[in-house]
Amino acid sequence: MITKYQVIKEEFKTLEFPEAARILQTGGLVAFPTETVYGLGGNALDARSAQKIYATKGRPSDNPLIIHIADMESLRELVKIVPPKAEKLAEAFWPGPLTMIFEKSDKVPYSTTGGLETVAVRMPSNPIALELIRESGIFIAAPSANTSGRPSPTTAEHVREDLDGKIEMIIDGGAVGIGIESTIVDLTAEVPVILRPGYVTVEMIKGVIGEIEVDKGILQQGVLEGIRPKAPGMKYKHYAPEGELTLFEGEEEDVIFEINQRTKELETKGKRVGVIATEESMNRYIGKNIKCIGSRLDEDSVARHLYAVLRDFDQEKVEYIFGECFSSEHFGQAIMNRLLKAAGYHVIQVSSRERCE
Ligand code: TXA
Ligand code: MG
Repeated sequence: MITKYQVIKEEFKTLEFPEAARILQTGGLVAFPTETVYGLGGNALDARSAQKIYATKGRPSDNPLIIHIADMESLRELVKIVPPKAEKLAEAFWPGPLTMIFEKSDKVPYSTTGGLETVAVRMPSNPIALELIRESGIFIAAPSANTSGRPSPTTAEHVREDLDGKIEMIIDGGAVGIGIESTIVDLTAEVPVILRPGYVTVEMIKGVIGEIEVDKGILQQGVLEGIRPKAPGMKYKHYAPEGELTLFEGEEEDVIFEINQRTKELETKGKRVGVIATEESMNRYIGKNIKCIGSRLDEDSVARHLYAVLRDFDQEKVEYIFGECFSSEHFGQAIMNRLLKAAGYHVIQVSSRERCE
């Protein structure tokens, strides 16, 4: 049975965390909010809990889980060594949306790390997540709480859509603040490597530890071009809506013109079309179903709404989705990484020449 905890911000401490803790301690699964996306939590040191997580999400078991902790002592139990650069990054960004990869200690079962000798660890900043980790007294393995391949959940309602009836509890902490998953940095290499971009940007990390590499798979179609992303999860089709998403790149005028043309053509044929617009472009589209992802002047707003917009189109059984591209500078790199993956890297370049023809 699913128990729903309606969590009302400042009052969450008075709620029955002990029940959630008991579920986790006895091998059950609890979905909970983090500052990035909702997580599907289980006991990270219990191989069977990890297997349950994979089965519930329908996730391949070679795709490792992130372990969530609430203090630095826990980190030392989970890993062989904490490199000085990791100490610096933890000081700068923990608790927060940064995951670091270390060599795992013997305590961590291979089922949690997908058979790898390394382990991903993160200290979330969401107070409900921290309270849950402390109250349960365990290390919580938590992937995003969506069915594998679907857009990550940014509200408890999204979790319910995917996992209702499959897990013991969903803690409802309202909509998350960031909206896309944490930045992942591999600290096991001499020069640390960013495996997944997130709210903590390349520039922010450089500012703390200097030299940093970025995995080539991040903004390119890795697998097909023979570039294998180092985070196993990045190689799977991911974050994808059911409708076919196509992105358009070019001058704003040209992109809007092209999307309107295609929308008209498909709608005339009776197809269901969705357009991902921005506050700035919203009223310049002609389609029947136009959704605003946020403002170009506020990247944070775009990230926050990205997955919800894709899920809404799914609910409405939209067959074709058209969207604009964003700058891939700074936090934009994470936004474009998720959009490109959702689109299966299908980007159409439009130019004004085409518009005149
Ligand atoms: O923001 C987040 O990180 C959210 C919240 C719930 O904390 N979690 C999340 O987990 O996004 P998940 O499982 O959806 O994504 C974890 C990613 C996967 O791409 C996985 O392959 C990678 O982390 N990963 C985990 N352990 C790894 C390891 N040892 N080496 C390389 N990549 C790893
Ligand atoms: Mg995920």
